[in-house]
Amino acid sequence: MIDSPRAYWEPLWAVGRRYRQINDAEAGLLTEHLGAGRGRPALDIGSGDGMLAQHLHDHLGYQVTGIDCAPSAVSLATTAADGADGRPCFQVMDFATDDLSLLPAPAYAVITCRLVYRFVADKPAFLDRVRRVLAPGGMVWVVTELADRRAADDPLKALGITAAETEVLTSGWSRVTSVDLDHLACYVLRP
Ligand SMILES: C[S@@+](CC[C@H](N)C(=O)[O-])C[C@H]1O[C@@H](n2cnc3c(N)ncnc32)[C@H](O)[C@@H]1O
Repeated sequence: MIDSPRAYWEPLWAVGRRYRQINDAEAGLLTEHLGAGRGRPALDIGSGDGMLAQHLHDHLGYQVTGIDCAPSAVSLATTAADGADGRPCFQVMDFATDDLSLLPAPAYAVITCRLVYRFVADKPAFLDRVRRVLAPGGMVWVVTELADRRAADDPLKALGITAAETEVLTSGWSRVTSVDLDHLACYVLRP
C-alpha cells in the first residue's frame, strides 16, 4: 500500500513515466456518459499530465480543474495547457488528505478519477471526500483495472481492484453504470 502518494508518484513523473493515452473508444465513452459540459465545473482527481482534463475541456466543454499530488505532473499539465484563459487549471493537492476548501469551486458537476482509485489507501474515506465536493445531480467517472480480469500469475494483476474494492466503490450510490474499455472498467456513479 502507498503511504505517501506524493513520495511514490513524484519520482515516477520526474523520470518520465507516462500512462495510457485516451483512444477513440475512451473518447466515445466520455462523450456518451458525461455529455456536454456547457461550462459546468469538472474536477479530475489525479490528473497526471492533464490529458483527461484537457479532453474534458476541449471536446466536452467543461471548466476543468485537475489536481495531482505530484508537482512534476502538475507542472507538465500546466505547461501543456499553456495558461490561456478558460483552459483547464491544475494544482498540486493530495485529494486524500489536503483541505478540500483549497479547491477553486465548492462543488463539481462531474468528478473524474482515471487510473487512480486502485492506489488509494483508504478507499471509503476517499469516496466520502468525493461525495463532499460532488454537486447535487452530479456524477463521478472512475476508470480502473479489475484484478479478476487478469490471470492469477499475471504480474500486472496487482494493478486491478479486487471484487471487495469494487463493492466499496459502487455501494451507496443511487445509480451505478459500468462499461468496459477493453481490459479496463469505467463506472458512472450518481448519488
Ligand atoms: C496512474 S497515474 C494516472 C494519471 C492520469 N489520471 C491518467 O489517466 O493518465 C495516477 C495519478 O494519480 C495521482 N495520485 C495518486 N494518489 C493521489 C492523491 N491522493 N491525490 C492526488 N493525486 C493522486 C498520481 O500522482 C498520478 O499522477
